[in-house]
Amino acid sequence: MNECEECNPVRVTTTRRRFLIALIAIASSLLGVILGLPFINALIGSKVRTAKDKWIRVAELQAIPEGEPVRLNFVMNGQDAFIQQTTVHSVWVIRRSPAELTAFSPICPHAGCYYNWSAGLKRFDCPCHGSIFRIDGPVVSGPAPRPLDTLPVKIENGTLYVIWQRFKAGVPEKIEI
Ligand code: FES
Repeated sequence: MNECEECNPVRVTTTRRRFLIALIAIASSLLGVILGLPFINALIGSKVRTAKDKWIRVAELQAIPEGEPVRLNFVMNGQDAFIQQTTVHSVWVIRRSPAELTAFSPICPHAGCYYNWSAGLKRFDCPCHGSIFRIDGPVVSGPAPRPLDTLPVKIENGTLYVIWQRFKAGVPEKIEI
């Protein structure tokens, strides 16, 4: 028997409904992909940026004096989910000889305050709870549970680079966070 679609209104309605459901499913999938792209990009992008930007240029070596700690600021560009961020960090750098230097995180290992260099007393003082550190990092007195945290450094073509890291405060071990 030859069935005519227009002659059967129930079948026409069912076909239209199926078509509309398929259309909505395709549109929803496309919308999901479009909305998800920035998120995927942020995830992949931040990984690429972390690997590429690990070494951060801090200063020209000739601008760093020998024997006296200097606090050097640098700018880091990063991405947190969808938000592009620029943050300013700093490191304490002690140049012991023309080619030898140490960089300390500026964050006190006791509870995360920023400590200062006391030029007259030749030591680092933390204003929060009174920890005192030697110029080369060990604790002299106070509640700090470990020496100042060193950061990886490299010198390339007369320029100092560091890797910015943060460490858990209040514990004797140096644990990166
Ligand atoms: Fe530095 Fe407590 S944060 S001594």
